[in-house]
Amino acid sequence: MNTSPRDTAPTHAPHPSALTQDALKTLVGQAALHYVVRGELVGVGTGSTVNKFIDALATIKDQIKGAVSSSVASTERLRALGIAVFDSNEVERLSVYIDGADEIDHQGHMVKGGGAALTREKIVAAQSDTFVCIADESKLVDVLGAFPLPVEVIPMATARVVRQFAAMGGHAVLRLKDGQPLVTDNGQHIIDVTGLKIHDPLAFEAQVSQWPGVVTVGVFAFQRAQVCLLGTASGVKTLTF
Ligand code: 5RP
Repeated sequence: MNTSPRDTAPTHAPHPSALTQDALKTLVGQAALHYVVRGELVGVGTGSTVNKFIDALATIKDQIKGAVSSSVASTERLRALGIAVFDSNEVERLSVYIDGADEIDHQGHMVKGGGAALTREKIVAAQSDTFVCIADESKLVDVLGAFPLPVEVIPMATARVVRQFAAMGGHAVLRLKDGQPLVTDNGQHIIDVTGLKIHDPLAFEAQVSQWPGVVTVGVFAFQRAQVCLLGTASGVKTLTF
């Protein structure tokens, strides 16, 4: 399983009466069932929040055709629960894509890729009419950039892309797993960039996506969320953008 910088990121101290972060993830995972169109395929993201959604999806598996998955990990979990998984090339469009985020702002722009699945996530999101983001309230931010920004890169371009981020004021490091560069489902590497405040996510995504060797930047502005189900101490809040 891929490691995530969120695993080591500081978390907000919970109020004693608050639900745990895990319980909030379960709540939003279950709430997302409301957006699944019965009789159709559903797009499925990746991560610990999505795992809760997949578990909930299994309870209505007889009411859907199946799923298009954004990672090997999600595919394995879906199949283990008896949900059919289709190749994205077999499917022209999906009504809805359900996925988590590392950060989401008040316009539905996100940073994603903490689980290293950003490229396939962006592909499935792009073929979906509606992106429903499921997240606990620690993920809601005013400006993207507190969470290290994941960028999937072709290994021979890593040093150059690191220099390009440095010229922007960022600090990029190669993501490691077990002491070796993490290898994505697509056979590429991930760098995580800190020190950036992303005030114009659309312009930022457009710019970085053009750098040679960048496979996918973890800013999801062109594929932003239209809905966010946010797990809070007082229940699930629905934000629409
Ligand atoms: C994986 C992702 C995840 O959606 C994101 O990292 C959030 O994960 P989690 O629900 O575990 O906090 O983008 O690439």
